[in-house]
Amino acid sequence: MMMQHLATVFAAFAVASALATPAPVPTPAPRLEDAVARRANSCTFSGSDGHASASSSKAVCSTIVLSALNVPAGVTLDLDGLNDDTTVVFEGNTTFAYSAWAGPLFAVSGNNITVRGAEGSTLDGQGALYWDGKGGSGGVTKPKFFRANHMNDSILDSITIHNAPRNSFSLNFVNNLLVKDVTIDDSAGDALGKNTDGFNINNADGVTITGAKVWNQDDCVAINSGKNILFTNGFCSGGHGLSIGSVGGQDNDNVVRNVTFSDSVMEKSQQSVRIKTISGANGTVDGITYRNIAMSGGTDYGIIVMQSYNGVDGQPTNGVSVTNFVLQNVTGTVESDAVNTYIECGEGSCRDWTWTDVSVNGGRTSADCMNVPSGISC
Ligand SMILES: *[C@@H]1O[C@H](CO)[C@@H](O)[C@H](O)[C@H]1NC(C)=O
Ligand SMILES: *[C@@H]1O[C@H](CO)[C@@H](O)[C@H](O)[C@H]1NC(C)=O
Ligand SMILES: *[C@@H]1O[C@H](CO)[C@@H](O)[C@H](O)[C@H]1NC(C)=O
Ligand SMILES: *[C@@H]1O[C@H](CO)[C@@H](O)[C@H](O)[C@H]1NC(C)=O
Ligand SMILES: *[C@@H]1O[C@H](CO)[C@@H](O)[C@H](O)[C@H]1NC(C)=O
Ligand SMILES: *[C@@H]1O[C@H](CO)[C@@H](O)[C@H](O)[C@H]1NC(C)=O
Repeated sequence: MMMQHLATVFAAFAVASALATPAPVPTPAPRLEDAVARRANSCTFSGSDGHASASSSKAVCSTIVLSALNVPAGVTLDLDGLNDDTTVVFEGNTTFAYSAWAGPLFAVSGNNITVRGAEGSTLDGQGALYWDGKGGSGGVTKPKFFRANHMNDSILDSITIHNAPRNSFSLNFVNNLLVKDVTIDDSAGDALGKNTDGFNINNADGVTITGAKVWNQDDCVAINSGKNILFTNGFCSGGHGLSIGSVGGQDNDNVVRNVTFSDSVMEKSQQSVRIKTISGANGTVDGITYRNIAMSGGTDYGIIVMQSYNGVDGQPTNGVSVTNFVLQNVTGTVESDAVNTYIECGEGSCRDWTWTDVSVNGGRTSADCMNVPSGISC
C-alpha cells in the first residue's frame, strides 16, 4: 500500500519535472525520499496538458506556477486538498474551454495557501460563449468559476477574472481568508450576462476582501451565512450591490453576524445597500454595518431591505431578525425613476437600527415601506 502510494507520487513528480517549462530550480535526478519529504521545489505547468499534471503533482510542489494554461472543456483545474503552506501563481492568460456544465472551472482548498495572480495575468472564462440572458436559471448550463472552499488562514491575491460564465468566487467553509486586490471584469456581459455574482460567501468565519474591483450583472458580494466579514476599499459597477443574503437558503446556517462594508464606491448598481431574507425562513442577521459608501447612477434602489425574497412582494415575513443594522455616511444618487430607500420588514423583525449621515437622493421616496424601525425613515 505504502509502496504503491510512493510510486504514484514519484511518477507524478517525474511527470511534473519533465513538463516544467522553464524549471526554476534545476532538478538533479531526485531520490524518492527527497521527492516526498522535501517540498522546497517549484513546479511550472503550462499549455494544454498542464492542468492534468498540475492536479496530479499538487502534493509534491510547494510552489505551483500555472503559466498560460489552456484548460480543456468540462474539467476542473483541480487544486483541492493542497498541502499546508503551498503557493499557487497564475501567469499569463489562463483560458477555460467552453463546455455546458456546472463547473467549477478552478478549485482550491487547504491551509495557509496563497493563490496569487502575477502582474498582467488573467483567468478568462470566455463568458461570451455562454451568455444567453438566462444565467443560472435557464438556457445553456454555465460553470461557476473559482471555488475556494475549505480554506483556512489563506490568501487570494491579485487575481484577475475576465468574462465569467456565471458566479465568480465561491467562498464556502473558509476561516481567516484574505482576498486582496482581486478584479472581476464581466463588463462585456452587460447585455446578456446574468447571475455573474462576484463573491458568494457561505459558512465563513473571518473573511477580509480589500481592494476588489467588480464589473458584473448580479451581486457584487452576497453573504448568505457567516460572521466576522469585512469588505473594504471596493468598487462595484453594474451589479446588484453589497448584499446580505439571501438569508434562509437550505445550504447555509442562516446566521449572518458582524459584517462591515466600508470605504467603497458603487456605480450603476441595481441597488447599492441590500439585505434580503427569504420568505418564510428563520434566521439571524445581526451587526451589519455600511460605512463611507458612495453611490451613483443606481437603477432600482439606493438602499433596500426586503423580507419577502422568493415570496410575495409586499408580504414580508418575520422569521429572520435584522438587528443592529448600522449605516454611517452612506451617500449619493440614484436615477430619477429609482427609489431612494425601500424597507419591507416583517412585523417586529427589524430592530435597533442606527443610521447616521445617510443621504440618498435623485429618485423617488417610497410610500410603501413597512414595519420601519423607530428612528429610521424611507
Ligand atoms: C505559511 O506558508 C508560508 C509559505 O507560503 C510559510 O513561510 C509560513 O511559515 C507558513 N505559516 C505557518 C503559520 O505555517
Ligand atoms: C485570453 O484568451 C482569450 C481566449 O483566447 C482571449 O479572448 C482573450 O483576449 C485573452 N486575454 C488576454 C488578456 O490576453
Ligand atoms: C479549517 O479549520 C476548521 C475549524 O478549525 C476545521 O474544522 C477544518 O477542518 C479546517 N480545514 C482544513 C482544510 O483543514
Ligand atoms: C467583527 O469582525 C471583525 C473582522 O471583520 C473583527 O476584527 C472583530 O473582532 C469582530 N467583532 C467581534 C465582536 O467579534
Ligand atoms: C420557523 O420557526 C417557527 C417557530 O419556531 C417554526 O414553526 C417554523 O416551522 C420554522 N420555519 C422553518 C422554515 O424552519
Ligand atoms: C464619507 O464617505 C466619503 C466616501 O463616500 C468619504 O470621502 C468621506 O471622507 C466620509 N466622511 C467622513 C466624515 O468619514
